[in-house]
Amino acid sequence: MLTESQVREILGNLQEPFLHKTLAELNAIEEVKIKQEKNHVSVKIDIARTGTSEQLQLQTHVVNLLKEAGAETVGIRFGQLSDEVLAVNRQAEPEQGKNLLNSESTTFIAIASGKGGVGKSTVSVNLAVALARLGKKVGLIDADIYGFSVPDMMGITKRPVVRGEKIIPVERFGVQVISMGFFVEDNAPIIWRGPMLGKMLNSFFNEVEWGEIDYLLLDLPPGTGDVALDVHTMLPSCKEIIVTTPHPTAAFVAARAGAMALRTNHEVLGVIENMAYFESKVTGEKEYVFGRGGGDKLAEELNTEVLGRLPLDQPDWNEEDFAPSIYQEDHKLGKIYLDIAEKVAGLLN
Ligand SMILES: Nc1ncnc2c1ncn2[C@@H]1O[C@H](COP(=O)(O)OP(=O)(O)O)[C@@H](O)[C@H]1O
Ligand SMILES: [Mg+2]
Repeated sequence: MLTESQVREILGNLQEPFLHKTLAELNAIEEVKIKQEKNHVSVKIDIARTGTSEQLQLQTHVVNLLKEAGAETVGIRFGQLSDEVLAVNRQAEPEQGKNLLNSESTTFIAIASGKGGVGKSTVSVNLAVALARLGKKVGLIDADIYGFSVPDMMGITKRPVVRGEKIIPVERFGVQVISMGFFVEDNAPIIWRGPMLGKMLNSFFNEVEWGEIDYLLLDLPPGTGDVALDVHTMLPSCKEIIVTTPHPTAAFVAARAGAMALRTNHEVLGVIENMAYFESKVTGEKEYVFGRGGGDKLAEELNTEVLGRLPLDQPDWNEEDFAPSIYQEDHKLGKIYLDIAEKVAGLLN
């Protein structure tokens, strides 16, 4: 049969998830009650932030530990650590607060579109690679949680490794990449809903070891639904690039994504017109197969500029180092991406 002091000893060594000190050090075990006849242990523990996924994890730990130690059933309540305790212990924490979301040296650039299929992911991966080719330190978050495609497009076969409490992104073509695809078995569909998504994205910011980066690009979910809005709201200061095709109706739909960016106080850096034309390799003639003028119309509406126009074309595929969607540096589109990257870097200087 467990005693109160045994329970305190067992739980005292657990880490408080936000302050990274033990529960004993923080005096965070507020109450221990033991019902001998039912072999039931109930505890009340204070943590820095209740109602979080960290709380859930800690809860699982506590229950497991107490059951291993012999408790039949476990009751657990969480309370809030006092402001005094929080203040004292946050100060004592040297590395705390080194949150990427607050990092001044990193610029967030979200790539948005009005709808799927316009090449948002293609633009995201190639712009990231182009910025890296310019010598910038670049990260890329595949924030299209349901429709992740970045790992396949970049030909990433490795998975991230975990070091300590941090996930190390996978590097490819000089870009640090993180994607939901890394955490899903066998391409299984994802059925998570909104709140989970927010947690996932938060983890991408806080639990990933980004190191020093200049630009963190986000391949946003398409459209202007809840998911896209969540991401917009989550990033306090973020630049945006809107991708559209040249078709006037596509630009019309994309304008809504632009409006969402502006409503959440995100500065629109410019518009990228993708699938702008098809250029005949034989005659060099340009055919505007998806219409014309969409990019200009959108830029005008959003009071910004067209950063570049990409024709229809595929990368040269390399069997040894396969990355189906990455254009080589000397490819016609690779060069256009370099121009766009230079413009973007110039705008952010
Ligand atoms: N400029 C382009 N030329 C040829 N194919 C392209 C071009 N841009 C995108 N694609 C193709 O169009 C499809 C949709 O692109 P994707 O980047 O996945 O769009 P989104 O992320 O907006 O849904 C992909 O198969 C991609 O390879
Ligand atoms: Mg996509």
